[in-house]
Amino acid sequence: MQPDFWHQRWANQQIGFHQSTPTPLLQKHWAGLGVAADCTVFVPLCGKSLDLAWLAAQGHRVLGVELSQLAIEQFFADHALMPELRQSRYGTHYLAGGIEIIHGDAFGLDRDALSSCAAVFDRAALIALPPDLRQRYVAELYAALPSNCQGLLITLEYPQQDRDGPPFSVHEDEVRARYGEHWDVALCERRNIPAAHPGFVNGASRVDTAVYALHRR
Ligand SMILES: C[S@@+](CC[C@H](N)C(=O)[O-])C[C@H]1O[C@@H](n2cnc3c(N)ncnc32)[C@H](O)[C@@H]1O
Repeated sequence: MQPDFWHQRWANQQIGFHQSTPTPLLQKHWAGLGVAADCTVFVPLCGKSLDLAWLAAQGHRVLGVELSQLAIEQFFADHALMPELRQSRYGTHYLAGGIEIIHGDAFGLDRDALSSCAAVFDRAALIALPPDLRQRYVAELYAALPSNCQGLLITLEYPQQDRDGPPFSVHEDEVRARYGEHWDVALCERRNIPAAHPGFVNGASRVDTAVYALHRR
């Protein structure tokens, strides 16, 4: 998935992945992690997700990263926030209301960028990437998160032969294979998404979603 693919999606507002409410599975399972309110939560590939605002409303500082300037500008405009801007080697940082979004490439972030992140929330991020990028994403980006970092990972599971991604199907065995070396992985919940639900993946014969609690050793 080249950056142009995502820039085109945002330019044409082909953003079926965007939800008009915070993710219900985030709201259901976040408290179970026991993440301290004043810690920073990393939200990779954040788009203009309402989850950023929901996490900030829990008292967390929030750090997102997003390729699309359009998405970031829409996020702050939608929330009537006027962000302060600053530059770093990672890109342009937009900051307002306890939410900081880096306009840049997630693969450009390193340990310094993520050193303050005690938690991570991953929805439509790992599964937005094809297998080769998923390998790099976990091996490089998640590797840059500090020890004891906790988080929630939400995936979709469907027969990949039914259609191409994104979103890609990522089954539990892949999650465990990619994360297991450095992260404790616990399945919180798996549920079926009915065909009539907006979260259903068009063209798939059956779709399940799974939520994992992650804890970096
Ligand atoms: C499927 S969307 C999900 C957005 C958000 N997580 C949500 O739940 O609405 C994936 C997002 O990742 C962004 N993206 C893709 N590759 C990226 C990269 N390498 N670095 C930063 N953002 C990226 C895209 O622009 C897009 O907004």
